[in-house]
Amino acid sequence: MPKTPSFSVSTPIFYVNDAPHIGHAYTEVAADVLARWHRQAGDDTYFLTGTDEHGQKILRTATANGVAPKEWADRLVESAWKPLLDTINISNDDFIRTTDARHEAGVATFLQKLYDDGHVYAGEFEALYCVGCEEFKPKSEIVDGEGAFAGEKVCAIHSKPLELLQEKNYFFKMSAFQDRLLALYEEHPEFVQPASARNEVIAFVQQGLEDLSISRTSFDWGIPIPWDSSHVTYVWFDALLNYITARGYGANPADPAAELQHWPAVQIVGKDILRFHAVIWPAMLMAAGLEVPTNVFAHGWLLVGGEKMSKSKLTGIAPNEITDTFGADAFRYYFMRAVSFGHDGSFSWEDLAARYQAELANGFGNLASRVLAMNAKYFESRVPEAGEETAADAAIRELAASVARRADEKIEGFAIHEAIAAVWELVDALNGYITEQEPWALAKDPAQRGRLGTVLFTASEGLRVLAELLAPVIPEATGKLWTALGAEEALGALTAQPIREAGTWGRLPVGAQQHALAVLFPRIEAETPTTGGAAQ
Ligand code: ME8
Ligand code: MG
Repeated sequence: MPKTPSFSVSTPIFYVNDAPHIGHAYTEVAADVLARWHRQAGDDTYFLTGTDEHGQKILRTATANGVAPKEWADRLVESAWKPLLDTINISNDDFIRTTDARHEAGVATFLQKLYDDGHVYAGEFEALYCVGCEEFKPKSEIVDGEGAFAGEKVCAIHSKPLELLQEKNYFFKMSAFQDRLLALYEEHPEFVQPASARNEVIAFVQQGLEDLSISRTSFDWGIPIPWDSSHVTYVWFDALLNYITARGYGANPADPAAELQHWPAVQIVGKDILRFHAVIWPAMLMAAGLEVPTNVFAHGWLLVGGEKMSKSKLTGIAPNEITDTFGADAFRYYFMRAVSFGHDGSFSWEDLAARYQAELANGFGNLASRVLAMNAKYFESRVPEAGEETAADAAIRELAASVARRADEKIEGFAIHEAIAAVWELVDALNGYITEQEPWALAKDPAQRGRLGTVLFTASEGLRVLAELLAPVIPEATGKLWTALGAEEALGALTAQPIREAGTWGRLPVGAQQHALAVLFPRIEAETPTTGGAAQ
């Protein structure tokens, strides 16, 4: 039997220093759309997300709030990070916390192996550290402070003063992997995407790689170094390992890789943390003799006032500010459609409201309700029978096949916005088709009964294709449409429909009983906020 294709995907694990904003939700939705697409295609799919809970940033936040770091992390995970997944309908298969026992044990196993194999040494170190980034900063990201920080060196990303740290640390001999990394980028151009990210990574590694400090002694909120408990593991070294500890690495300490599953995986990250994922992480894996990720895809930033929306700069918009008014489907659709995946995008309430009305309510929702209402009125809520096909009907049938094929290709290439745009060609074409064919006029002439059936069958079948192709993006609305079309009884669950065959025409059985459809995207009456993250 041919092997089932597989698709394994991860988001970054997010810091629990604060609650999520729409930037984190954006990454989650993108990974979720890819996972849902592949799952519906029948691929062996696994989708992992989680939280990053160790290190100075979390320790300081917890201390400032008068609680122990683990208590703080528990509170944030339960009150904010896990609920986010419901708010935006995320279909993750697992949720890893770096305070999970499975993770802590896996990290210790990994470290011990690197130490035993000679990839780690003890050394002295003095450098400028950014707690916001949890990173010793490279020269290119150290700038002169302004205003209150004039005369100090600040982080180019956080605009906050850097701290000079001088410690005895353990180092990972990352410099030894420079040539292998460059060969990886060369031989596998798909490894880092998009191309702009790949170029940035290659340029960075070509400048020369230094060894990486992987332990800290000045605080204890982290995973102890297994051979020297006076050190805790550097938070990024700890965090990156989540991708394999969640997948079973270390479950059998005698043979750490024995239970590793769903690896290698696709890694979706924001471009702020590209270097960690495309340089440090594959070097760590090479050192341990494990496979590197299949792809590291760095998406762009959601911007506010031209700057990255961020927790530390207090420019975050909470996801439920949007979903409370527009719903989870609209949130998912908007960010996947309006922002080209791999580039920055500016969020604006006006743009969101305009697309909601024009594309979801008037374009898609209205199409669905008109067609189902006409089937109810003229065919007693049953899927009508199609007669002879005209050129206009054939054009819809062919377009359905074409958009289904192109959307799958675009998803393969991580061009989520282009996949949706391709599917939307069918939404627009069907609206045009209904306007031109005027089924309401055909219905007045008994001699046109056959033609009326053909037109409404074509429109219904077009909706069937749309429901299947849009299910990964707008699962709630397409689920309702699927039931109303009569497809649930006739064809089974929407999520079980093979998405790569969505464009095969004629799957909706003639005569299937249809059902009333509630308005999919109701008119939004409330005023939408225009401050705090509004349009630029
Ligand atoms: O970096 N636009 O966690 P973090 C788009 N714990 N995406 C954004 C965004 C924005 N304005 N702001 C945040 C960490 N993100 C580490 C990761 S992984 C082993 C450890 C998203 O809480 C985006 O995915 O700072 C970005 O890379 C991530 O949140 C950073 O989240
Ligand atoms: Mg960050």
